[in-house]
Amino acid sequence: MIRVLFVCLGNICRSPMAEGLFIHLVEQDGLSEKIRVDSCGIGGWHSGERPDPRMRTTAASHGVRLPSRARQVKNSDFQDFDYILAMDRSNLQDLASLAQRVPGKRAKIVKMRYFDPLAPDADVPDPYYGEQSDFEDVYIMLERSCRNLLDFIRKEHNL
Ligand code: 4NP
Repeated sequence: MIRVLFVCLGNICRSPMAEGLFIHLVEQDGLSEKIRVDSCGIGGWHSGERPDPRMRTTAASHGVRLPSRARQVKNSDFQDFDYILAMDRSNLQDLASLAQRVPGKRAKIVKMRYFDPLAPDADVPDPYYGEQSDFEDVYIMLERSCRNLLDFIRKEHNL
């Protein structure tokens, strides 16, 4: 089983969208038995909550389900997951410093838009204080990135 974890700050906007999109693509490719998908947040302020209603609106308009309940990242994530995708540079820095203290970690920690051919060094901007259109923008960049991430994983694992 290949395990993929998407991480943002609050786990109610960006990473739940990435998780839902990636599950959707994995299902379309018939790989649900091979690839397990989850998301979490650097912070635990929204633990147990469903994704932000604005993100759910955008997801629904594209036919994507968002099954996540927010949770905070934990040490075992670095041992359990193969790929950890950080939504922005700040998430990446926080993950790198948390991972330092975990023995036996195996996760590759990469910024999400490393897989976006249009802007491979960019962040996925936090839409929390933005407008509905900012949530749509997040969806579009995540869709591009998720497709390329899945291609990358399929090649690495001969799937
Ligand atoms: P996310 O957005 O990291 O994309 O889930 C945020 C959601 C909530 C907060 C920050 C960012 N917050 O500070 O509560």
